Order: sequence, then structure tokens, then C-alpha cells
Amino acid sequence: MRHVIVAANWKMNTTPADAGELAATIGARTREPDVVRVICPPFVCLAAVRDGLAGPDVVAADGSGVAVGAQNVHHEQAGAFTGETSAAMLAGLATWVIVGHSERRRDAGETDELIGRKLRAARAAGLRTILCVGEQLDEREAGRAEAVVDAQVRGCLDGADLAALGVEDGLPWLTIAYEPVWAIGTGRTARGADAAAMAVRIRATLAALGMPGGGDGVPVLYGGSVTSSSIGEFLAEPDIDGALVGGASLKPDEMAGIVARAGLTAAARRGPADSGSPAGPAPLAAKTT
Ligand code: 13P
Repeated sequence: MRHVIVAANWKMNTTPADAGELAATIGARTREPDVVRVICPPFVCLAAVRDGLAGPDVVAADGSGVAVGAQNVHHEQAGAFTGETSAAMLAGLATWVIVGHSERRRDAGETDELIGRKLRAARAAGLRTILCVGEQLDEREAGRAEAVVDAQVRGCLDGADLAALGVEDGLPWLTIAYEPVWAIGTGRTARGADAAAMAVRIRATLAALGMPGGGDGVPVLYGGSVTSSSIGEFLAEPDIDGALVGGASLKPDEMAGIVARAGLTAAARRGPADSGSPAGPAPLAAKTT
């Protein structure tokens, strides 16, 4: 059974002075035991958010807390890369990382091949990774959305050397966020059915790449103008496993509503027989081979 995940992408917002308190407030208001919660602040706020989330008010009934994620990672381990941050540097600060966000593809020129190298670096460091994919508006209007996303998934994962990533194990550290570019920050969302169709296509692509179980174990999130009002349409789709939230994730009221709705879906998926098992994913070990 796939976990239900709500990940907050704070983008270039908050400062070390205010991020910890905001994270603590959001953490305390989202204590849904069945939902995996992740906050991804700017690099300079990672320590403040980690510390802000350390209080008992943030821990859910099953003992799970809020995980911290970075918004990017460099593909090399160390070296002359001014301004960059390696996966190893995130130790003790973050257990998740976002790679391939469309804003980085747009502003930093990240290619699928480069994102694949980031995936490999994140995997080697034992980070849970959210890989972002999504089409432009003209691509959707031309009926090419699924082909574009299929090519992105193949480009990122092929470039990362699937055998080294351990594809035969089903990539339990991988989550994919489908974020149509035209829905990001626009107030316009995809339709739940279209997002679900994309999730099915993504899993078919994973299966074609050799993932066991038809890619069924990989969570697929929707991202793009998600709010407490719109989240229900996506979580009503069995193929969608949560959301990657941008603007609304800076608002405690919004996050409370989004995670509460996610909790309903998660509880329904678990069913009464499973009520004793923890929601959070098992810890990941760094991959040394
Ligand atoms: P918005 O929710 O602000 O549209 O951003 C979505 C996003 O890019 C999350 O990564």
C-alpha cells in the first residue's frame, strides 16, 4: 500500500529567523497519523525548520513527525561548484529532497540527464527523492502531455543508470510529483481525472523501464495550485497519493485543511485491519555499492 504524502515546497520564501516557528505551527496543526508530512524550506532555513519541528507538539499519534526536505541537490559529492550543495552536506538537516522542479528546469537549465545524476547522488546519500515532471500548456493543448511526461521520466531515470539505482527493488526511496507547468502558481489546477491518467501513464513508464509490480509501489503526487479547497479532487483519485504544495504550504490554515483531507484518504486506504501499523516510511540506509 502506498503512503499518502503531503510535501510543502516553500520555494524562495521564509528566512532562518521565521522558518522554524512557521514549521512548528504547521507541524502542530497537521498531526494526522496516517499522512507522511514533509517540509522543504530554502537551504539556509533547513536547520531552523529541523529544530522547529523537534517539539512534541508536532509528533502525530503514531509517533511520526514532519520530515525535512531540501529543494535541490548537486550531482557531485564535493568540489569546485560555487554556491552548490551536495547530498552529503544534507546529513542531519534533511531526509528528503526535491529534484527536477520545473522552476529549476526553467531558471537553471536543468536537463533530464542532469536530474538523473541528481537522483543518483540523492540515492547514494540515502535521501528520499521527489522527482518533478510535468508538461507546458502548449504541450497539453497539442495532446502531447503524456508523451512529454513519459520522456521526462525516461530521460531522468535512464540517465541515472537504473541498475545502480536498484530498479529491481522498486525504488522505495522514489516519489514522483506530476506538476503541470501551467498549473504552478497560476490558481489553475489540472482536473483530477487528468492527473490520475498521468499517474497511470507514469507507472506504465516505470514498468516499461523494468520496475517490478508495474511501478505500483511508487507514490505519485499532484502539484500545481493545490489548496485546501482543491485537494479533495485529487485525493478522490486512487492513483494519486498526495500533493506537492507551493504557495498554500506557507499558510498554516491551508496546510491544516490539506493534511486533514489527506488523512481521510489515508485512513480509508489503510482500512480498519491495518490501524496499528505506522504511516511513515521505514528509514533508508545510504547505498554504498
Ligand atoms: P503552487 O502550489 O504555488 O502552484 O506551486 C506548486 C509547486 O510548484 C510545488 O512544487
